[in-house]
Amino acid sequence: MFNGKKVLITAGPTYEPLDPVRFIGNHSTGKMGFALARCLAEQGAEVSLVSGPTALTLEHPQVQVISVMTADEMFAACNKIAPGADLWIFAAAVADYKPKDTAVNKIKKSDASFTIELVKNVDIAATLGKQKRPDQFAVGFALETDQELENARGKLLKKNLNMVVLNSLRDPGAGFKHDTNKITIVKPASVEEYSLKGKDEVALDILESINAEWACLQK
Ligand code: CTP
Ligand code: CA
Repeated sequence: MFNGKKVLITAGPTYEPLDPVRFIGNHSTGKMGFALARCLAEQGAEVSLVSGPTALTLEHPQVQVISVMTADEMFAACNKIAPGADLWIFAAAVADYKPKDTAVNKIKKSDASFTIELVKNVDIAATLGKQKRPDQFAVGFALETDQELENARGKLLKKNLNMVVLNSLRDPGAGFKHDTNKITIVKPASVEEYSLKGKDEVALDILESINAEWACLQK
């Protein structure tokens, strides 16, 4: 079903540097994005996987891995690939903020307290969403702790996505640090709940759901 399709996937965390040795980051491992890339490649898609720092590797003739560190670098890479891709999957845990300034030299400790000024990062999904053509399909992820469905629907609309894969941190076994995941897929006209499964099986569920929704749009 994805044979010959060009796919852009973002994965992993972003690291936002404070100085040459320190950064602001998060616990994302990149597993979900990498699992999706592998499944899509196995189904014949041509995948560009733009990944933040991760321990994972993926060698497949159908997958090009583009390694980035910051949200700005991730955005620059995605911006080049997105117009030529049929499907966009935003699985990265992009840092919402970055330090206003990055010190050239290592910051030395001095005072008892230390304040870092942060500024907002570019929203990759929302910015690309504005340029999405009707023939393109965009998938976002949302990790929520409360008002999950409402927040996921908000992201669907705000970022002009075709579907949002929702993870609730309230579900045991879901989220960053597990090999399993329990997802709910939120689409403009439906909500699909899935049981707790391994991330590779979750990837297959997501792809099947994308396929069904995309087929409806093309009718
Ligand atoms: N996303 C992105 N660029 C950002 C922030 C988020 O591309 N700077 C993408 C994520 O990859 C995900 C979706 O947007 O697919 C939702 O991310 P999330 O962090 O849940 O939403 P935010 O809009 O950042 O809102 P908040 O963190 O306040 O809930
Ligand atoms: Ca966020």
